Amino acid sequence: MSAGFMNGSVNPSRIAPSILSADFARLDDEIAMCEAGGADWIHIDVMDGRFVPNLTFGAKVIETVRRLTKLPLDCHLMVVEPEKYFDDFVSAGASGITIHSEAAPHLHRQITRIRELGCRAGVALNPATPLSAASEIVPDLDLLLIMTVNPGFGGQQFIPYSLDKIRRARLLLDECGSDAVLEVDGGISRKTIGDCWRAGADAFVAGNAIFSSSDPKAEIGALRDQCAVSV
Ligand code: DX5
Ligand code: ZN
Repeated sequence: MSAGFMNGSVNPSRIAPSILSADFARLDDEIAMCEAGGADWIHIDVMDGRFVPNLTFGAKVIETVRRLTKLPLDCHLMVVEPEKYFDDFVSAGASGITIHSEAAPHLHRQITRIRELGCRAGVALNPATPLSAASEIVPDLDLLLIMTVNPGFGGQQFIPYSLDKIRRARLLLDECGSDAVLEVDGGISRKTIGDCWRAGADAFVAGNAIFSSSDPKAEIGALRDQCAVSV
């Protein structure tokens, strides 16, 4: 085990293409490509133009994607008052709902509600938000999402010092005996994914890297291959 290699081979790597960067005119082909490329989850970025300065989609698109694939739908809510959407999103087919600590003052209540609905519950932390914002509720988490860009847009640059936060998040989960998934989102590419994996992340959202590739299907495999490299 090399210094700083915190993941070992214990956890599987999960690749979650973000359809934010997909071509919506041919969404069925894009989802089929993700499946053929071996994607583990489909990541759905819900933005409300309030929590983040961008608007995307809601329950109707989740329902459409649900019809197109059996892969788990990993729904990332970048919205204020996220609890307003839980019931509709679960009915539409969400498999996991991740909410931002910055938008959820009653995190415990909200996470509990997501789980009551039979959905995997996650908390996301913006780059400037300390890990302590989620540390008290680790036992109730199915997923912890470390944002490696400021949320709102695809195609941004990975923030390098996120790696230290990922390492500390891995320690936090391990210390609590948690088997929550440690996900990273933003600027994930062949250049950045290996370091995130070695820092302890085990789920990787990628939008631009996959959908802007000349061979998106192969890119999913190329990203996963980086997670097998242990130095
Ligand atoms: C950013 C979103 C991400 C985004 C990632 O606000 O949460 O999921 O789609 O896009 P890339 O991989 O292009 O940085
Ligand atoms: Zn996202």
